[in-house]
Amino acid sequence: MILSQPSSDQWWSSAVIYQIYPRSFKSTTDGVGDLPGITSKLPYLAGLGVDAVWISPFYTSPQKDHGYDVSDYRDVDPLFGTLEDATTLLARAKELGIKVIVDLVPNHTSDQHPWFQKALKAGPGSPERNLYWFRDGRGENGELPPTNWRSVFGGPAWTQVEDGQWYLHLFDSSQPDLNWENPLVREEFESILRFWLERGVAGFRVDVAHGLMKDPALPDWDHDWEMVSGLDDDSVPAPPMWDRDEVHDIYRDWRKIVDSYGGMMCAEAWVHDDERRSLYVRPDEFQQCFNFSFLASPWDRASLQEVIAQSYEVNNRVGAPTTWVFNNHDVVRLPSRMGLPVTGKGPNGIFPTDPQPDLELGSRRARAAQLLMLALPGSAYLYNGEELGLPEHTSLADEYRQDPNFRRTEGTEAGRDGCRIPLPWDSTLPGAGFSPTGETWLPQPDGWEEYAPDRQIVNPDSVHTMITTALKLRKEHGLGTAQIKDHTTEDALEYQVGDIRVITAFDRELPVPDGWQVLLSSQPVTDTIGPNTTCWLQKTES
Ligand code: GLC
Repeated sequence: MILSQPSSDQWWSSAVIYQIYPRSFKSTTDGVGDLPGITSKLPYLAGLGVDAVWISPFYTSPQKDHGYDVSDYRDVDPLFGTLEDATTLLARAKELGIKVIVDLVPNHTSDQHPWFQKALKAGPGSPERNLYWFRDGRGENGELPPTNWRSVFGGPAWTQVEDGQWYLHLFDSSQPDLNWENPLVREEFESILRFWLERGVAGFRVDVAHGLMKDPALPDWDHDWEMVSGLDDDSVPAPPMWDRDEVHDIYRDWRKIVDSYGGMMCAEAWVHDDERRSLYVRPDEFQQCFNFSFLASPWDRASLQEVIAQSYEVNNRVGAPTTWVFNNHDVVRLPSRMGLPVTGKGPNGIFPTDPQPDLELGSRRARAAQLLMLALPGSAYLYNGEELGLPEHTSLADEYRQDPNFRRTEGTEAGRDGCRIPLPWDSTLPGAGFSPTGETWLPQPDGWEEYAPDRQIVNPDSVHTMITTALKLRKEHGLGTAQIKDHTTEDALEYQVGDIRVITAFDRELPVPDGWQVLLSSQPVTDTIGPNTTCWLQKTES
């Protein structure tokens, strides 16, 4: 069956985009990553073969949610450098042919943003309060929150201020939600888009793109909307705060601005199903929307086949390429997730006292999953350290945890610190070369230096070598824009992508088909493809 992929000559439609989590990527000072650290590693990324980077927020921020709480959208946090450092980074990336996508956080600001500070002072009923969602409480004296909504990070989604009113925060209490009914909010973000486009960014990854509009009647809603996966239950009424149809008008306006600079936008949208996701990539909205169904799929032939087929089907309907992703700064790293008894989206962090992943099995599956992903037409995102096969830190002591999710769930969820450990760069240096002093803002687990690039680049069997080779072949064979046919059988996932045959074996061994030779594989393959292995094959020359 031809799954077909709408062909597009736009760079982003088949790009491999590398996500940088600035505080964990590379530090040139004191153990927190920074912009000069990113600039210094751009040649490494060029060597890896990525087309673009997406940099998580580096703007001025009290860092309550590590930059996803912005207090000045037009400046760089001193922790990460200066606006000049950003200019230098953009210039160096351009020289190396790497595009730069920045993160835009429009659902909420920091509580230290001047707008919120003014709103606190201005008092109930003021135009300043109308930039956010301030409401009187329920109960006899307004002592109860205005609705029963819950924060994604745990606990109530409302916090009371001194004069008795409450404000809405779908995330941490340090992240008040903006009121997108207010035209001033819209104007401000259109100006922020222009500010960064003028400086030469290639586009934006838009944070919580599904959250901006709320039902102004603020009805109660008794459910939790899960990070990444939304809600998997058809019987639940549509949420009054997530994935509302009105959000799309905002993106239509933004698209016009972004188009005028030749830029692109990628939506982070946790939605109920693939149909809803495809609405974000209609021709006049986002160019990309992360395929979280793929990320959340269990490691099993039938599920992956269905997710892949369905993704092409719904995106074809709106004429958009797909956007594959397995990792980001919000989920347990792939080799660990794939080594759990139940694979899929995984838990929200793993405690040392939890059942530990089988890392040998998980790493084998992760390599197979990565080679599968990188063969699929469309765009693909890699998360920093994914090219090194980094696992989750699952032995982190609680005293080090910084994710508000850990605090707000009173320690019942480990949170996301385990996928944000400072990267190893040089196995011979303290802190595996993360910073000049050897300091790291979160402790690295034992043996972290073994994953460092200096070890991997010289090792033909390393994850780094596999990914670099895959990216090179992907380009040479035009896989990102090729036609794809599904030949899956009971035995294995099998696709013909352009002139490459891609086979992923799960629980059984398969012979290498006659007339085909191995071009690249996630495990050594001679005559048979072992379990949990992906192989790229090419016709033997006759
Ligand atoms: C997005 C980010 C996540 C952040 C949240 C609130 O989901 O990916 O890291 O905590 O938004 O901004």
